[in-house]
This record gives sequence, C-alpha cells and structure tokens, in this order.
Amino acid sequence: MATRRPLLAGNWKMHGTRSETERLLSALTQALGGVNPAQREIVVAPPFSALETAARLLADTPIRLAAQNLHWEPHGAFTGEVSGPMLKEAGCTYVILGHSERRQYFAETDESVARKVRAAQRDGLLPIICVGESLEERESGATLAVIDRQIRGALQDPELDPELDQAPAALTGLVIAYEPIWAIGTGRSATPDQAQEVHAAIRATLGSLTSPATADATRLLYGGSVKPDTVDALMARPDIDGALVGGASLQADSFARIVNFR
Ligand code: 13P
Repeated sequence: MATRRPLLAGNWKMHGTRSETERLLSALTQALGGVNPAQREIVVAPPFSALETAARLLADTPIRLAAQNLHWEPHGAFTGEVSGPMLKEAGCTYVILGHSERRQYFAETDESVARKVRAAQRDGLLPIICVGESLEERESGATLAVIDRQIRGALQDPELDPELDQAPAALTGLVIAYEPIWAIGTGRSATPDQAQEVHAAIRATLGSLTSPATADATRLLYGGSVKPDTVDALMARPDIDGALVGGASLQADSFARIVNFR
C-alpha cells in the first residue's frame, strides 16, 4: 500500500486583504516552524488578490499555495476570470476546483469542473477536486451515488478527453476533497465513520477509472467544520489523508493545531 503524505489545506474563501494575509501568514509560519514537511504537506488558498503577497511571504517555507478557482482557457475575452498560467506565475502549486459554493452560487457543473481539471493538468497545477452531497441527498440515501457521479463527471468526460481511459498517469498528483454541503460552515462535521465510508467509496471509484495503484496513491481530504478538536479522530481513519479547512484556517493557532493532528 502506498504511503500517502497527509495534506492539510486552508481554504480562506473570500477572506484576506493583503494586510490581513501578511498578518495571518507571519503568525502561521511562526506557529508551524517545527513541522517536518516530509511528514505533512501544508497548503493555503488565499483569494486571487493576495496570492502574490502570500507567495512572497512563503517563498522560504515549505507551505504551498493554492488558488480557489481557474478558468479553463489560458487567456481570452473572459472578463473577471483568471487562468492557470496566471496562477502558476503567481506561485500556485494547487488549485481548488468544483467547491460546493461555486457549484451552488456560480452555476458550476460536473462538466465545467471537468474542463477545469483538464486545464489545471495542462497548465501544471495540481487540482483539489471538491465533491459532496446536500443534506437532502444524504437523507434520501443518495450520498454514494451523488459522489460517484461527481467523481466520474470531473475525471471522465469522453467528449472532452477520449484519451483519459488510456492515460491514468495524467491523474497522478490530483487530490479529491469530500465536503458534505451540510457540514460546511455549520459546525456539524461528518462523523469519522461517515467520512471514512465515503472516502473508501471514492477510492473504489478512482480505482475503476484509473488503476488500483493510482487510487491507492491519491490523497483524499475531508472538509466540513474541521476543527482542532475533531481533526484527530478523522485523521485516524485509513482513507482520510488530510483536511480541507475553511473557518478554522483563518486563525493561525487553530490551523496550526489541525496541521499538528495526532
Ligand atoms: P468550514 O471548515 O468553514 O466548514 O469550510 C469547509 C470548506 O468549505 C473548505 O473548503
């Protein structure tokens, strides 16, 4: 079995002017001084406007940068959008794609997420693909079917990429984040059992789309009200390889405690 390096990522959402970014990152780099980057990978995703500031502050640290979205074209007449090459130049390693807030408020679909995944791979960014069911879907027993559809939709759109079936290597390095919508920003995390069940199903879907080795090597994050007092039990589960943290990543001490899960 592959050893998967835990990945702890902070999604700042629409928080962080440049001065706030400077304050948070200087506190965070101090708080995380003792973390061995070989043992855990740390990522922060500030808003576009703070990426350059963050890149400068993190230049000599092992903390990596993620963007929260991209447009699938490298350039063009798309007012208000930002492309992969621009994010790469700003210092990003990762890009979060298909977050439920983007699906919910900005009409993203499995198809647009698939285009963005292709673009990220083309532009040399590692996608963190978000999936997750609504409360209604969970209560009606549709969770695993919804997640399966979202994963297949993001990774396998024959119209967009007929080659994908033959090229599981293209999927190396991507990250999937399971974020149940009912757990985001609510203080009500999925239980470790609930999260583990979905993560195991995601790994099985990945195995059927790619190869058992790729599925085994792919990191699966849990997101949704991850806090210092819930992270340890989640991280103890075999298929939970990290966390995508919203609110608790905006405070250096709470995010540092999450990174230092036991
Ligand atoms: P919270 O941790 O604030 O629930 O947000 C989770 C999330 O959406 C991370 O992408």
